[in-house]
Amino acid sequence: MSSLTIASPADFHVHLRQGSLCKLTTPHVKQGGFDLAYVMPNLKPPVTNVEQALAYKAELEAIDSSVEYLMTLYLSPELTPEEIRKAKVAGITGVKSYPRGVTTNSDGGIESYEAYYPVFAAMEEEDMVLNLHGEVPSDADTDTHVLNAEARFLPHLHKLHARFPALRIVLEHATTRAAIDAVRACGPTVAATITAHHLALVVDDWAGQSWNFCKPVAKFPSDRTALREVIREGHPRVFLGSDSAPHPPHSKSVSSPDHGCAAGIYTSPVLLPLVAHLLESFGALDRLEGFVSTFGRRFYKRELSADAAPPSVQLRKVPEGNTIEKEYTSADDSLVPFWAGKQIGWEIVRS
Ligand code: DOR
Ligand code: ZN
Repeated sequence: MSSLTIASPADFHVHLRQGSLCKLTTPHVKQGGFDLAYVMPNLKPPVTNVEQALAYKAELEAIDSSVEYLMTLYLSPELTPEEIRKAKVAGITGVKSYPRGVTTNSDGGIESYEAYYPVFAAMEEEDMVLNLHGEVPSDADTDTHVLNAEARFLPHLHKLHARFPALRIVLEHATTRAAIDAVRACGPTVAATITAHHLALVVDDWAGQSWNFCKPVAKFPSDRTALREVIREGHPRVFLGSDSAPHPPHSKSVSSPDHGCAAGIYTSPVLLPLVAHLLESFGALDRLEGFVSTFGRRFYKRELSADAAPPSVQLRKVPEGNTIEKEYTSADDSLVPFWAGKQIGWEIVRS
């Protein structure tokens, strides 16, 4: 196959940040081939209410109005069942839960799910989506650490699904075979997203290589195989959420005893060609449209109209390879993308 047409790609998990940085990142959604961005709320301060989410959406639309932004709220004690009903009316799609302290800007994250049962009940009634950062915090007493944090989270997923069977839940950025098996075992209201970088990386790639450090960390080769297999099989409840997470180069490359390397990998500007390249590498190119468009859109009830021809993106194979930029810059910021300087075998055809 030397060219491909993909109907309106949708990235169901992306960090666009705020202020000057979001002026650099937001146009990269379209540049990377995507028409829809499901926007994460872990700003400083986090997006905890409807008013903030709508102001943030307006900020993004002012930068690039050609992308559809689906907004989320950050689960915190401020979020009440009343606010959920307001959010539904305001067109907000989901609520993101971060366990306390597990990743970037998660200091305000939650410590117990039970406390939020009234919020989840309202979300279930209003048909909103719960997005789970599926890791438990590290804890020396229970030997919990970055490698088993996702597997140990899975009982929470099962418990929430059992208690709220009609609530749509997405286990974000799944990295383990255990997570994929857990999602398979759940009913039609539970899905998983997978990032591009977790299809490429394993533990050895981030140990000592800070640019490849993200949360959850990439796991073992057998886990990566499970992620690849579930995509190759075309599982309809498994779809792309890039977790593209921009950090200034100094926070990725420099650390000190009291300040570690920032977690996050930036893929937005090259996302669709990168995913095509990766899927081709493990024999799943025929699943590209399902993975980046159809499956996520169906789960989120954002399906493309059957009557009108949907917008689409064309990809072309580049046998000699296309080099990923070393850096993206604006007057105020710079960002180093995943696989900077590396060659990939696909590019977007731009008219
Ligand atoms: O690596 C990550 N970076 N994982 C997350 O969950 C958050 C993200 C960020 O916001 O930088
Ligand atoms: Zn994220």
